[in-house]
Amino acid sequence: VPVRSTGGDYEVLIGLDLVSSLGPCLSSLGLRGKVAVISDSTVWKQWGGQAAQSLQSAGFSISTISLPPGESTKAFRSAEPIYGRLILDGFSRSDTVVALGGGVVGDLAGFVAATYHRGMALVQVPTSLLAQVDASIGGKVAVDHPLGKNLIGAFHSPRGVICDPTVLKTLSVRERWSGLAEVVKAALIADQELLQSLEGDLESIGDGGANDARMLEVIERAVRIKAQVVSEDEREQGRRAILNFGHTLGHAVEAATGYGPLAHGEAVVIGMKAAIEVSRQLGRCSGEDADRALSLLSRFPRPSKAERPIRDAVLALVRRDKKARDRSISFVVLAGLGKAEIEPALSDSLLSIAVDRALAEFPEK
Ligand SMILES: NC(=O)c1ccc[n+]([C@@H]2O[C@H](COP(=O)([O-])OP(=O)(O)OC[C@H]3O[C@@H](n4cnc5c(N)ncnc54)[C@H](O)[C@@H]3O)[C@@H](O)[C@H]2O)c1
Ligand SMILES: [Zn+2]
Repeated sequence: VPVRSTGGDYEVLIGLDLVSSLGPCLSSLGLRGKVAVISDSTVWKQWGGQAAQSLQSAGFSISTISLPPGESTKAFRSAEPIYGRLILDGFSRSDTVVALGGGVVGDLAGFVAATYHRGMALVQVPTSLLAQVDASIGGKVAVDHPLGKNLIGAFHSPRGVICDPTVLKTLSVRERWSGLAEVVKAALIADQELLQSLEGDLESIGDGGANDARMLEVIERAVRIKAQVVSEDEREQGRRAILNFGHTLGHAVEAATGYGPLAHGEAVVIGMKAAIEVSRQLGRCSGEDADRALSLLSRFPRPSKAERPIRDAVLALVRRDKKARDRSISFVVLAGLGKAEIEPALSDSLLSIAVDRALAEFPEK
């Protein structure tokens, strides 16, 4: 799947067993020399051996860096020892960083690649469903700051994205469903056909029962949507914002529950339900379409670990998230199945409805 970027066009290669052909893949991208494979310990244990072996057989000299799994690794303090290792191992600007992992590894390794020697080649090898259909594409790289997520970052396009659905075999069921939320998001905003097919087999995809051909199909369609949107508007001056469907409330409940009890996709499902309610109230989407979208989302497992956050905290987080950009809260609404639009200024009363809809997803205290 092609992606256009001012930093250089690139492709998302999607195929089974690509991780065990990583070496030839990198060679075909014209890359040579040293490769730093950055991963987390969970992913490295499962898939690192195959990746390393393939790279070495193709003549690459590799340094491997494995980090603790989890969002707390995506921090500036994780970057410094990685820079140290690259310096000691003699890496230069013409060498390559491979990010083998989920979105945490992709964002952190991407940040290192964007900044080491003012920018070196990056290849994304996403291993979670969320990273395959979302985080690895579009060139946004970042680390978190104690005061907020993704606040320190850059745009740094990868030279290629290598997406191998085989590796999803070892992904937990909860993480699969979390990634599937972004697939449903993509379908809701841009692909009615995909949406219809997901209505047929959502549970088998989420639980891991879908066959390889089906996973390839679903991933490819979701990748095409993300690739097309970021190709049109890389720097998020307009249309790219539709990818934030469900994320205004999603980010707020994720932050208000303290990042952890809710997986990102679980928060996004809650946020999408709220956004659909707003779309219905605004008359932007018919009651029938709203019901259909909500009924698909109601098939996601209910998050069990999160307690209902405090209403004012959620409201304040929505306002803070948006105030940095402009005074009014712009909000992504559904304008029918497979179609999203930006509502430039959400009224306080609709915002209040959205917050209540999101909070209703949590069990009463
Ligand atoms: N750059 C972007 O455009 C963008 C877009 C969306 C999300 N993100 C970022 O992505 C991050 C979330 O990504 P994520 O959900 O992939 O989280 P993650 O990287 O923490 O991965 C989730 C968990 O799954 C494990 N895992 C990953 N692949 C596995 C595999 N094949 N087998 C077994 N376990 C595996 C990881 O070890 C981790 O414990 C967030 O930090 C978010 O901000 C970035
Ligand atoms: Zn998301």
